Amino acid sequence: MKLTREEQWMLEGKLGNGTAFAMKLITKLGDAMGAERMIKPVGSHVVSFGFQMYGKLAQWNQDLDNEMLEGVREFKVPATTNPKFINTEDEKFIERFGLSESAVGKIRQSMSNKKFEALGALPTYTCTPFFVTQTRLGESLAGAESVAVVMYNSIYGARVNRETAPTALATAITGRTPEFGMHKPENRYAQLQVDLGEDIKPEEFSRADYSALGYYTGRIARDRNVVFTGLPRDLSVSMLKTLLAPLGVSGAVMLAHVVGVTPEAPTVEAALLGRKPEERITVGKKELREVYDRLTTASEDKADIAVFGCPHAPLDEIIEIARALDGKKLRDDASLLIATAEPIKVLADRMGITDMVERSGGLIVSDMCPHGFLSPVYVTGDIKLRQSIKTIATDCTKCAHYRGAQGVKIKYASARDCIRAVM
Ligand code: F3S
Repeated sequence: MKLTREEQWMLEGKLGNGTAFAMKLITKLGDAMGAERMIKPVGSHVVSFGFQMYGKLAQWNQDLDNEMLEGVREFKVPATTNPKFINTEDEKFIERFGLSESAVGKIRQSMSNKKFEALGALPTYTCTPFFVTQTRLGESLAGAESVAVVMYNSIYGARVNRETAPTALATAITGRTPEFGMHKPENRYAQLQVDLGEDIKPEEFSRADYSALGYYTGRIARDRNVVFTGLPRDLSVSMLKTLLAPLGVSGAVMLAHVVGVTPEAPTVEAALLGRKPEERITVGKKELREVYDRLTTASEDKADIAVFGCPHAPLDEIIEIARALDGKKLRDDASLLIATAEPIKVLADRMGITDMVERSGGLIVSDMCPHGFLSPVYVTGDIKLRQSIKTIATDCTKCAHYRGAQGVKIKYASARDCIRAVM
């Protein structure tokens, strides 16, 4: 790669060891991906390495963190932050799930968030940073959260590659990212065209249906760009988040054009950049059913917990759930969790929606991943807690996919059916 004099200085360690490490990392990435130069992105979405808390992996994370931040005084571009593993300040949540003091202490210690904040990171703690910061068409970003990547590329026309936590952090440190992949307009054309079958009406879709459509498409697309035709042009950004997030879960899609909605796709021809799609599929009732069947592993109707907000729920989604609860009480042995970003939670508090949810026995949590704490991979060490939650009901394919893969029984259903499962 051709580096500017300033970039060369960074590489040589003139701005400190951490910056040199970060520059080396993204230069190697750029070389491997055939980039010719670095560009200056407008921001980076960083992820704390502290999700792994035990064993060699945890030590490796801490070491890498320390090595990259050595001598760094501030981030060079605005950095938004992904959710914490657990919001250790949320006493209601900790009490409700009976998390032990030692588990909470360990989590607090292992997270990098305080170090990131000291360098100027924005304490957004959400996987939906696009709901709390603004981005324009054609701007480049770096980032490590697949939801943020697909949304920035597809809905805002910003340019970002699917990255790792270390490379996103390296961009925050250096203010540079290698120019390849999604940063280049010629790589942004759709390869897979997805048409909707005549037997489905997207106007009547629940969130779970939209999420299933994204999940089905991701499996076929793998890492190719997608164009959806036939979706309503007035689809809300909130519903677009639900549709697009799973593309990075069942596949590794970074960009999905929605004709008439996304800035680079006023028409299907524009999304295809005048080419023919490599593949064209039709998704109908049968394909959506396949997703429900694949993700649902629970045989009973009842669940121990209903989980919403993966990715984090915007206000309209929280209101939908609060209305569906309709003042009804959850079973004493069941829970309901809605995860969101803190600014949205503040609005929900002010509007009395948080109270409505709590009166039914549910909780709205912010700044954290709603189900990471149950995962045996991101262990809290709280085996009792994990054993008490054997079945999760959710309308989020991302939640169903990851928790299901770790052996928890899943009921994949609409929000209303998930609520019924904990009543
Ligand atoms: Fe966000 Fe956690 Fe789901 S980070 S996308 S809520 S897995």
